[in-house]
Amino acid sequence: MSSHTVLATAEPIAPTIDEDVIKSGEEAEGGAVETKDAATLPEAKTVQSTQKSATYAQLFSTADTLDWVLMAVGTLGAIVTGGCFPFINVLFGRMIDAVSSDPADFADSVKILALDFVWVSIVQIGACSTQAICWTLAGERQTHKLRERYVRSILRQEIGFFDLNSPSQLATRVGESSGALQDGITRKASEIFQYGAQFLGSYAVGLYLCWKLALVLVTALPLIGGAGAYMVMAITTAQNSVGENYAAAGGVATESLNAIRTVNSLNMHAWVISKYRFYLSEAMQKGIRKGLDVGLGNGAIFLSFFLTYALGFYYGGSLIAADMDRGCNPTQDDSCITGGKVIATFFSIVMGSFSIGQSAPALTAFFAAKAAALPMIEIIEREPLIDGLATGESAGVVPAERSKGHVEIKDIVFAYPSRPNINACDNYSLDITAGETVALVGASGSGKSTIISLLLRFYDVQSGGIFLDGVDIRKLNLRWLRSIYGYVGQEPTLFAGTIFDNIAYGLDSVLLEPGNVPRDDALREKVIAAAKAANAHDFISSFPLGYDTDVGSNGVAMSGGQKQRIAIARALIKKPAVLLLDEATSALDATSERLVQESIDALQKQKAQTTIVIAHRLSTIRNADKIFVIDKGSIVAMGKHDELLRDPTSLYSTLWAKQGGHASSSNLAALAGAAN
Ligand SMILES: Nc1ncnc2c1ncn2[C@@H]1O[C@H](COP(=O)(O)OP(=O)(O)OP(=O)(O)O)[C@@H](O)[C@H]1O
Ligand SMILES: [Mg+2]
Repeated sequence: MSSHTVLATAEPIAPTIDEDVIKSGEEAEGGAVETKDAATLPEAKTVQSTQKSATYAQLFSTADTLDWVLMAVGTLGAIVTGGCFPFINVLFGRMIDAVSSDPADFADSVKILALDFVWVSIVQIGACSTQAICWTLAGERQTHKLRERYVRSILRQEIGFFDLNSPSQLATRVGESSGALQDGITRKASEIFQYGAQFLGSYAVGLYLCWKLALVLVTALPLIGGAGAYMVMAITTAQNSVGENYAAAGGVATESLNAIRTVNSLNMHAWVISKYRFYLSEAMQKGIRKGLDVGLGNGAIFLSFFLTYALGFYYGGSLIAADMDRGCNPTQDDSCITGGKVIATFFSIVMGSFSIGQSAPALTAFFAAKAAALPMIEIIEREPLIDGLATGESAGVVPAERSKGHVEIKDIVFAYPSRPNINACDNYSLDITAGETVALVGASGSGKSTIISLLLRFYDVQSGGIFLDGVDIRKLNLRWLRSIYGYVGQEPTLFAGTIFDNIAYGLDSVLLEPGNVPRDDALREKVIAAAKAANAHDFISSFPLGYDTDVGSNGVAMSGGQKQRIAIARALIKKPAVLLLDEATSALDATSERLVQESIDALQKQKAQTTIVIAHRLSTIRNADKIFVIDKGSIVAMGKHDELLRDPTSLYSTLWAKQGGHASSSNLAALAGAAN
C-alpha cells in the first residue's frame, strides 16, 4: 500500500452523536474548528416546542414602524365604525319620538335627524375605508415579509434538516399557513376592535337610555350570543376539517400527476381514483353535516331574536305604560320612558349582544393565524447547523487564491441525522493530491455518495475533519467552498428553462445577477465550450431551437443521458478546482460515455482540476490515479487498478470479475445475468 493515508480501521467505532459533538471540540486537531456545545446545538428537526401558537410578539415580529402606524390608524377606524351603530339606534329612537310628537315640530325634527344620518354616513364611510385600507396594507406587508423570511430560512437550513422534515410539506405550509396568517392579521383582526366597540357602545347607549329595559334584555345575551357562536363554530369546524380532506385529496392528485409515468406503468389509475374519491366522499359527508348545522344555527339565531323581541317589547311597553299612568310628560321630563327610547335601547342591546357572535369568526381567524404562524416562526427562528446564506464574520474565510484542489479527509466519523446509530463513514482518512483523479468504488450503499455530500458540506462530520488546501472546510466560506466544486449528482436535476440557462447556472456570476440569464456573446461561448466538453453540443444543435430548447419541468423533456450531459456541462463551465462526478455517465451509451470520458481526461491531462469519480462500471475508472475501495462506510483498499487486481480475493477483484473483467458494455450482460 502506498504512503497515502488509508486507514481501514477494524475497531468498531460507533459513538453516539452527542458524545461526538461534545468530543469533537476537545479532539479538534489540525485546525479543526471548535464545535458548539451539545446543549446549544439546535436539533436538525423542526423544533417541537410545547407552544401551541405564536406569541403576540412573534406574530407581529415583522411589523415595522409604518405597519404599527397603519394598525393604530386602522384600529381607530374600526372603533369608529363599530361605534356608529349604537349612534344610529339613538337616531332611530329620536325619529320614532318625533313621529309621535307635536305635528308642528315634526318637519323641523325630521330635517335635523336626516342631516344627522348624513353626517353619520359620511363618518362611517371614512372610518370603514380607513379600517379596511390600513389593516389590509399592514397585514399584507407583514405576511409578505413573513413568507419571504420563511422561504429564505428554509433555503438556508442544512441538508440534514430536510432528511427529517419533508420538503413538500414545508413548501405546502408556505401557501396554507401564510393564507391563514393573511386572513387573521388583516381585516379579521380589525373586526375584533370593530365588534368590540359596537358591543361596548351599544350597551352604554342602552344603559343610558333605559337601564331597566337594558338589564332585562341582557338576560337574553347568552341566548343570542350562544346561537351566533354555535353557528360560527359549526361553520369553522366544518371548514377546517373539510379543508383537511381537500388537502389530502389534493395531495393524492399532485403526487400521482407528478409521477404520471409510474402511475401508468403500474396501472395505478383506478387505485388513485378510489383514494381520491375516499377523501372527497369524507369531505361531502362533512359538507352535509355543515349544512345541517348552519340551518340549525340560523334557526336558533332567529328564535333567539324573536324571543328577545317578545321580551323587549313586552317589558318596554309596560315601562311606557307605567310612566304614562303616573302622568310623565316627555316634553318636560327627560327621564320619561318613550317609545323611541324603548326602540333605541332594544336594538342597541340586541345588536350589542349579536356583535359578540359576529366577532367570533374574527377571533377564530385571528387565533388560527396565531397557530398557523408558529411552525413558520419556529423555522424562521431556527439557526441552521450549516448556514448557506451566512454573511459577515460568521460566514467564514474566503481564501485570496484560487483553490489548488488538495482534499484531505482525516479520521472522519459520520452518521446521517435520520439514522444517528449507523455510521455511514466509519473512521477513515484519505488524501487526494491536487490535480489527481481518484475513484471511489464499492457496493451500493457502501458510502460513496456520502463522501461527496460531506465534501460539499451538506452535512458536517461528527468527528475528524475534511481539509481543503490544508484548511478545515468548516472554517471556509460556504458559498466560496461550493463554488470551487463542479458537481454532477447521481440523479442530475435540471431547472425549468432552456438548455442555455441550465448550463449557465453553473457560473456563480450568473446566479449573482437576479432575473433572466444574460445572453451576451462571451457567455454564449462559455456555454458552448462547456457543452462541447460534455459531448452535448451535437445533440443540442440537432434540436430546432438549439440551446434555446426548453428542458421542461425538472428536465422532463430530456432523455436521461441528455440530462446527464447538460449537468456535466453545467459542472465544467465554471472550470472547477474539484470535479465531483457521482455516477455522472451512468445513463450514457458506451460511445457517449467514452467521448465524455475523453473530454474529462483531456482536462485532467492539463491537471486543471482534481477529479473525484464514483462509477459502478469499473472500466471507466481504470485509469484513475488512485482508486479507493469502500465497504460499509470504511476504506478497505486503495491503489491503482492493476495494484488492486493483484489480490484475486480482494473486493475490487471480485467486483471487477463480476463485471466481466473488462469492457464497460459487459455491464449490461452482468445485469442481465443478475436478473435471470
Ligand atoms: N439522507 C440519508 N439519510 C439516512 N441515511 C442515508 C441517507 N443517504 C444515504 N443514507 C444511507 O447511508 C448509506 C450510504 O449511502 P450512500 O448514498 O453513500 O451509498 P452509495 O455508496 O453512494 O450507494 P450507491 O452506489 O447505491 O449510490 C446507505 O446505507 C444509505 O441507506
Ligand atoms: Mg451513491
